[in-house]
Amino acid sequence: MAPKTILITGASGGLGAALARAHAAPGAVLLLWGRDGVRLREIAAQCSAQGAVAHVTAFDIRDIAALTANLAAADVQTPIDLAIFNAGLGGTVADDALSENPQGAQATAEVNFVSPVVGASAIAGAMAKRGRGHIVLIGSIAESFPLPMAPTYAATKAGLAMFAEALSIRMAKHNVAVTLVSPGFIDTPMSRQVPPPKPFLMSADDAARIIAAKIARRARRIVLPWQFIPLRALTRLLPRAVLRLILSRA
Ligand SMILES: NC(=O)c1ccc[n+]([C@@H]2O[C@H](COP(=O)([O-])OP(=O)(O)OC[C@H]3O[C@@H](n4cnc5c(N)ncnc54)[C@H](OP(=O)(O)O)[C@@H]3O)[C@@H](O)[C@H]2O)c1
Repeated sequence: MAPKTILITGASGGLGAALARAHAAPGAVLLLWGRDGVRLREIAAQCSAQGAVAHVTAFDIRDIAALTANLAAADVQTPIDLAIFNAGLGGTVADDALSENPQGAQATAEVNFVSPVVGASAIAGAMAKRGRGHIVLIGSIAESFPLPMAPTYAATKAGLAMFAEALSIRMAKHNVAVTLVSPGFIDTPMSRQVPPPKPFLMSADDAARIIAAKIARRARRIVLPWQFIPLRALTRLLPRAVLRLILSRA
């Protein structure tokens, strides 16, 4: 049975907005979260035009009390079938900077790791009680690489990958699926901040269509574009010293 009530964080732009459009259809209730209320309403209107019912909530997801309160309120009103934790902050450090800006590192850690981990834990409990549900965490291919140009970003995504796997094992007996999505480069405002090269860059709508189809099959792991699957496997075979050398020159 296709999920009916779908929460998407970071739905005001980029991949989140594309995921909202990919799930918008008659019978779907979309809960679209982000900070920018104007953009959220624009995306909601696009989803409504496709036949979905869309509700928007604008708040800063780093506000953990607001996050858990909004989740509980939404879940009481319409039990969430599918929760997609997509909101994220990029964070590349300029070559000439001595280190990452500490406040930037904190924001990245809070948006990319703390908020999805807290949110997923909260909704996992409610889904386990119902004996059904699906949680999707949007990670990154960066989880596989100790990126010197984005130490905190890479670390948050690596942490999220471990969390997703552990949670999926824990939730299996409750019929709650957990999916980790690890994208390469998707053309969004975030990736436009990253200097080229961006191999295998794909549009957000193409990425969202692939992700939505695999979510519907309850895939545990989604890596896209597909070229990153062999690339990731190959780099795992490299001695760590060689990988460090390559990355130090990147
Ligand atoms: N684009 C890529 O190449 C790429 C590759 C791998 C993984 N990813 C992952 O894909 C996800 C989506 O990224 P994207 O490329 O679509 O980025 P994006 O275009 O910058 O969009 C990020 C979304 O996250 C929301 N967000 C950021 N900080 C927030 C906060 N404090 N509170 C609430 N919402 C917040 C933004 O909302 P507001 O604008 O309303 O603040 C926006 O909707 C992220 O988890 C990212 O790490 C992206």
